[in-house]
Amino acid sequence: MTRLVCVSNRISLPRKSAAPGGLAVGILSALKRTGGLWFGWGGETIETEPADPDIHIREGVTYATIDLRRAEFELYYNGYSNDVLWPLFHYFSKGMRYSNEQREAYENVNRIFAQKLLPLLQPRDLIWVHDYHLIPLGRRLRELGVQRPMGFFLHIPFPNIEMLRVLPCYSELLRDLTSYDVVGFQTHNDLRSFHSGIEHLFGADALRPDGRIRIGDRTIRAEVFPIGIDVAAVESEGLEASATDVVRRMTDSLVGRSLMMGVDRLDYSKGLVERFSAYQQFLETHPENLGRITYIQIAPLSRTDVRAYAEIRQALEQAAGRTNGRFADTDWTPIRYLNRNFPHATLMGFLRAAKVGLVTPLRDGMNLVAKEFVAAQDPADPGVLILSNLAGAARELSSALLVNPYDVRGVSHAIQAALSMPLNERRERHADMMKVLRRNDIAAWTRRFMEALEQTQAPESRVRAI
Ligand code: F6P
Repeated sequence: MTRLVCVSNRISLPRKSAAPGGLAVGILSALKRTGGLWFGWGGETIETEPADPDIHIREGVTYATIDLRRAEFELYYNGYSNDVLWPLFHYFSKGMRYSNEQREAYENVNRIFAQKLLPLLQPRDLIWVHDYHLIPLGRRLRELGVQRPMGFFLHIPFPNIEMLRVLPCYSELLRDLTSYDVVGFQTHNDLRSFHSGIEHLFGADALRPDGRIRIGDRTIRAEVFPIGIDVAAVESEGLEASATDVVRRMTDSLVGRSLMMGVDRLDYSKGLVERFSAYQQFLETHPENLGRITYIQIAPLSRTDVRAYAEIRQALEQAAGRTNGRFADTDWTPIRYLNRNFPHATLMGFLRAAKVGLVTPLRDGMNLVAKEFVAAQDPADPGVLILSNLAGAARELSSALLVNPYDVRGVSHAIQAALSMPLNERRERHADMMKVLRRNDIAAWTRRFMEALEQTQAPESRVRAI
């Protein structure tokens, strides 16, 4: 029997206390479908060399976790992954801080991942590597003799070659991606960017008319697999959570005011500073709404050891304080800004209660909160999604109110339009988006990617390893 092996930087062992991110939800959905192995960093750093993986089996899924040396983890995760690749891939080249030391640690951690994973692999495994932390892993595994089909999915945007070329080792990064049999992206835009890199490095002939990429005797499938959500699960979570104490306490506290809601990791790519400015402008230009709307922004802290994240945190505290200081009344706080996380079901209950969902990243691979907001709504009286046209989700959710997140006035107008939208229009837009979400849910995403990976085993398309 074929077994699926997923590899990601971080693993989330099943627990109920926190909301797993999109990547974790996607991987779990794939593994629960087929059973299999999830390999990655267990969340602990140590002072000694990494030992062999710890193995736990839960609900048919085997979790294999390794610890990483503290100093190396710092350079690999905070450094190369989140201070170089993350800003660059999100088109914030000015925020990138490259160093060779970080790059070496990144390479080394990928080598360690390959070495520790190798003894766990079985002859019929399909290997699926996730996200920017692990781009070189495929090459490392090939070097160790692994010939099984290997796929890579990038959860974040992929930059056009003119942006990618800012990275001193961009050609190695592109070459590493060609070690996989299937390379998946969130949007056509990302795929086009990848093609621009392949053409730049290998020439236009590498891009074949059937969409495949041919480099020497290797054929690679590079395709778009937009990640979806578990629509039915979100619908029922939202409904059931509405009756829980925690959601009731929140809705009771609104005392009839309209709720506008944002849920984002605290990350500069999420556009929160611009969003707070837009809300401030909305309150200034539509004073009839003073005291009639409450904006709750949930922003759990993230990557706190990276400087840019500490800076954005400070900027947001100031912005929220400024707006509240200026507009609050003795019985009304315009923004409730929370740096904490909630269980996924509770978040879905909050989203269901919102009249407006504000999802305005400056750049985002997909943004699953946008999809979850739609699925969590009451179809009879749905809230309105305001969505950045720079989020991958905007390609599918074209019935949202699409905005440019930098356009503070445009976002402020969209808030007003959302609050005053007639019920018929809200229902129509919601129904349109639900159709899209159902057609391309999380099961479809995993099925499509795995089918593509399985097909690389067919004799006519099987590629020679290494
Ligand atoms: O989607 C991008 C991503 O980096 C995922 O890989 C990860 O699950 C999520 O964001 C949270 O990031 P981190 O693991 O750095 O907290």
